[in-house]
Amino acid sequence: MEKIEKILFTYEEIQERIKELGKIISEDYKEKNPILACILKGAVYFAVDLTRNLSVPFILDFISILSYGPSKETYGIVRITKDLDINIYNKDVIIIEDIVDTGLSLAYLLRVLKAREPSSLKVCTLLDCPGRRIIDVPIDYKGFEIPNYYVVGYGLDYNENYRNLMYIAVLEK
Ligand code: IMP
Ligand code: MG
Repeated sequence: MEKIEKILFTYEEIQERIKELGKIISEDYKEKNPILACILKGAVYFAVDLTRNLSVPFILDFISILSYGPSKETYGIVRITKDLDINIYNKDVIIIEDIVDTGLSLAYLLRVLKAREPSSLKVCTLLDCPGRRIIDVPIDYKGFEIPNYYVVGYGLDYNENYRNLMYIAVLEK
């Protein structure tokens, strides 16, 4: 099994940053009642902690997407495997993502959700890895920018392992 090479962000650093994000989002959505569209499964840990730092009313909902094809880079085929329960028409929606990497899945999701005509649609991601980007996607709120690493922990997995780590780490491969 792969081993942890180094810790990128400790639990304390993550919590500190989420507290700041929560403050900014609460300010931006002061008169609103945003729908947090959490992308399963990786973003669950982030979404939960983010909601604990919001001072505005919100609705938490979940969506699951699957990327497939022999290589994600060449195909970028994405499909919804579990849709949101809530109707987002005329609502303020914030997509909650764990990491934006190639941007392919987020680009697809943005296209699908935009077609449902929400009154606003924003993106909040814990991690941003711009070095691996294939398609440009707008990111409104981000926790941290990281270099071209494969990271695990705090919801992020490698073959479903490591999600429960309290920190974010680089995998030795
Ligand atoms: P993208 O479509 O390449 O931007 O990434 C889609 C998804 O792949 C992310 O939401 C993550 O679930 C997963 N992913 C991308 N990079 C990493 C990583 O470094 N560690 C763990 N999961 C990742
Ligand atoms: Mg994901």
